Amino acid sequence: MTFFSAAWFKSVACFKMSRPDPFLIMAPMTHLSHVAFRELVRGFGGCDLFYSEMLNSRILPSERPGDSVYLKWVSPKDLILQIVGNDPELMKDAAARLVSYRPWGIDINMGCWLKKITMHGWGVALMKDIKLAQNVVEAVRSVVDVPLSVKIRLGYSLDKAYLVDFVEMLAASGVDFIVLHPRTAMDGLARPARWEYIAMVKEHSCLPVIGNGDVNNPRDALDLIKQTRCDGVMIGRQALRQPWIFRDIKALLMNKTLEPSPDLPGVIVDLSFLLETHFPPEIAIKRFKKALPWLSTNLKFGHYLAKEVNKTKGMEDIRLKIKEVFAAGIT
Ligand SMILES: Cc1cc2nc3c(=O)[nH]c(=O)nc-3n(C[C@H](O)[C@H](O)[C@H](O)COP(=O)(O)O)c2cc1C
Repeated sequence: MTFFSAAWFKSVACFKMSRPDPFLIMAPMTHLSHVAFRELVRGFGGCDLFYSEMLNSRILPSERPGDSVYLKWVSPKDLILQIVGNDPELMKDAAARLVSYRPWGIDINMGCWLKKITMHGWGVALMKDIKLAQNVVEAVRSVVDVPLSVKIRLGYSLDKAYLVDFVEMLAASGVDFIVLHPRTAMDGLARPARWEYIAMVKEHSCLPVIGNGDVNNPRDALDLIKQTRCDGVMIGRQALRQPWIFRDIKALLMNKTLEPSPDLPGVIVDLSFLLETHFPPEIAIKRFKKALPWLSTNLKFGHYLAKEVNKTKGMEDIRLKIKEVFAAGIT
């Protein structure tokens, strides 16, 4: 059992001393939690740790940092690289490779519910096979000397005893903390997240637990902490809609007044420049088009904006279109 293992202490001790609990963390999100969006969020402050999108353990051996669209970062020191797969040897090799880049931590994805992932026995499917899950964790742990987390769901049913056993297995296998997204595999992203399961796991396990799911405004983060006593909060979708949410949560935690929301067209344009800095033009545009609907969720003319941007080709045209649509939308 490794509640605050040696690796955790070594990497976290200094980090924790200078930072108030709880940890605020941006979630892994395919094609969205890339270097450019992470830098956008970082610019507002308040986010302690960032997760990469899930990295396929089968593909990783052929990816090179810098060249690969997936292995890009400004600094790995507050980055957790997430691996997905279920073959202990492949997962171990992938983890060893990722650790050589000296990230803050490594995560194993045992939460993805999408069929294209679970059909291989990856993601949340691993929660069905506790023995295989244990073999994967032990193999990865054997090569990971930085904090190791596992991101889980509730599994395939609302079986509290099984969930507690699963978390105990993770602790005994050397995991330093878990992220719990309290929905079942069948829930997908539907129905409200069942925060009471985060509280239940906190009560029964000595592993630090990061709570995740349905934090839709800064107040929700405080409620999640209060209701579950979780050790940190991970935010996914709302960080895409409001990349400054971590700044606002930190302010609330410190009883400070919230700053006004930033100018949204400016934020959108900043993302376009960050994407151009870090990706080849074609990928930058693809990623921009993926992020835009999230950033414009709350705009009355959000659909129109996305439609207009989809018609454009280069990033410069996209920026002109954004200015034009905002000017027309606001007046
Ligand atoms: C577009 C999208 C992509 C996601 N990709 C991943 C992923 O690569 N790895 C992972 O563990 N979870 C992934 N998730 C799940 C999120 O990390 C998070 O658990 C989920 O969105 C619930 O948190 P939220 O309510 O704050 O969004 C993804 C979610 C979304 C919406």
